[in-house]
Amino acid sequence: MVAYEVAYLLARWYNFGMEDAKEEIRARLAVEDVVGQYIELKRAGRNFKGHSPWGTDRTPSFMVSPDKGIWHDFSSNKGGDIFTFVMEMEGCTFREALEKLAQQAGVELKRYSSDDRKQAARKQRIRDCLELATKYFQFCLTKNKAVMQYVFYKRNLNKKTVENFRIGYAPKSGRALVSFLQKRGFTAQEMEDAGLVNRFGGDLFKGRMTVPLMDVSGNVIGFTGRIIEQDDNSPKYLNTPETLLYNKGRHIFGLSQAKDAIRRSDFVVVVEGNMDVISSHQAGVCQAVATAGTAMTEMHLKSFARLTKDIRLAYDGDEAGVRAAERAISMASKFGIYLSVIDDYHGCKDADELIQKDPKLWQDAVENYRPALEWLLEKYVAKYNLKTEKGFQEYTTEAKRLIDQIDPADTVLREKYERIVSERLGISLEAFRAKKVAQPEKKKLKKTNVVKNTTVVSRAEKNLAALAQSGKVDLGDFEVREFDIDELAFIFDERYGKWNEPDLQREAKELMQKVSTERQEAERKELEEQIRAAEKVGDEKLEEELMLKLSKILRQK
Ligand code: UTP
Ligand code: MN
Repeated sequence: MVAYEVAYLLARWYNFGMEDAKEEIRARLAVEDVVGQYIELKRAGRNFKGHSPWGTDRTPSFMVSPDKGIWHDFSSNKGGDIFTFVMEMEGCTFREALEKLAQQAGVELKRYSSDDRKQAARKQRIRDCLELATKYFQFCLTKNKAVMQYVFYKRNLNKKTVENFRIGYAPKSGRALVSFLQKRGFTAQEMEDAGLVNRFGGDLFKGRMTVPLMDVSGNVIGFTGRIIEQDDNSPKYLNTPETLLYNKGRHIFGLSQAKDAIRRSDFVVVVEGNMDVISSHQAGVCQAVATAGTAMTEMHLKSFARLTKDIRLAYDGDEAGVRAAERAISMASKFGIYLSVIDDYHGCKDADELIQKDPKLWQDAVENYRPALEWLLEKYVAKYNLKTEKGFQEYTTEAKRLIDQIDPADTVLREKYERIVSERLGISLEAFRAKKVAQPEKKKLKKTNVVKNTTVVSRAEKNLAALAQSGKVDLGDFEVREFDIDELAFIFDERYGKWNEPDLQREAKELMQKVSTERQEAERKELEEQIRAAEKVGDEKLEEELMLKLSKILRQK
């Protein structure tokens, strides 16, 4: 049997197991108990009622039906079962909700293979190890006056913030944490799995202020450490490497602390640095989170979209910030996200600096947001010299490209921006509308590469997408097709969960080659069909065009 067939069978087997587990959990947990952990419920006849966690209803509009095992929120029109409820409240994936509720119900997700069980046990050991490390670092902070000085006075954090974010200190001596954990029964392998040691087996974090990275439920999954006395040789920030628990492309810093505020106020503020998040929370803007650097992935956006559609980017206005916003815009339109930008920093370099100046300025800034499109168009005006013909052309092209990303069905929004640009250029709306531009090379590639007219998706495509979403391989410019993220995460765990990085990278390379060939083949078939159709209707011009394309593909081989 071929390896992917094994993976496929495993997936089917697993799914059957999951359905059983779902039913078992449903049978053991009362919907009103699960919901009752988050919302105060009062009996109302056969049902329960409470206030909506999303709306600001004056009379209770949230209803739970124990008979049917469902909930419905009349103010936001959302509804579902215990699993969807936990997904909504925790902003987590189905898989995570299942695991959480399985634990509460005392249901072992028993169709796990013994390997999976081993993996789950290993993960739990890592969690325990990181939790203990957190406590150790917290303790070390209280014992070091100079670092306390740094945390409380230089960074201006208060006790509540330091506790909430579980800030600590990693001592300078080379093996302090390692020896501590060793005494508590953790092996060298476990510490390495937790991402806490350097390549010599000593402490990874030394002489740094430590900030735990947490998952949505608040479990510690890693650390970031900021240097306290900056020298030339060490990076300012050091992060845990990717581990079984920490995935950079998926992780959102501050989400566990921010999710309630995000849900209640129905917006999220995405800042650049972890310290910006912490300061922001202290300043009362608890909707702040950060992704690693400015690289927002589709997975990040999907996580946000589960909680709110109002995403406010508080990035630098520099080149990297603009690129990040551009990338986010093209992804956002797919998820129905309303993307805006906060850019009034009153001359400060980041949110943290602004808050140090005056927290009120930051509180106002997050309400002073502008549509990302409008903001980007202005950036383009500043970038290109509209007085020269070249600049004029370039601006028109960039602006048109951007506006073409708007959902075509949203004619009103399109017209709004078409007007802004055409007025700025002093040309007619019609002329601007009629201008044809191609999306940049990368986008074009994606379009032609998508296998058309086929309902069967190749396994190589899916496996490659699963690798891509894991963030563990480098695919360069290679475009992967999009699938459901949860499905990909599942495929990855099943198929590649235990692979090491070099093997993953090799696999990625092979799959890219395979997928390229498959796509070329599909394109060739599609073209041949089109040529035959053109032949039939006698459209010679089209036929010639298609033939040319076909010959190009054949030459690539
Ligand atoms: P900045 O240099 O702007 O840091 O990098 P910052 O957030 O303002 O930090 P402070 O206020 O000086 O403490 C922005 C982000 O880039 C990442 C971090 O996530 C940081 O928050 N970074 C920066 C690193 O990962 N490593 C580095 O060495 C520097
Ligand atoms: Mn800063």
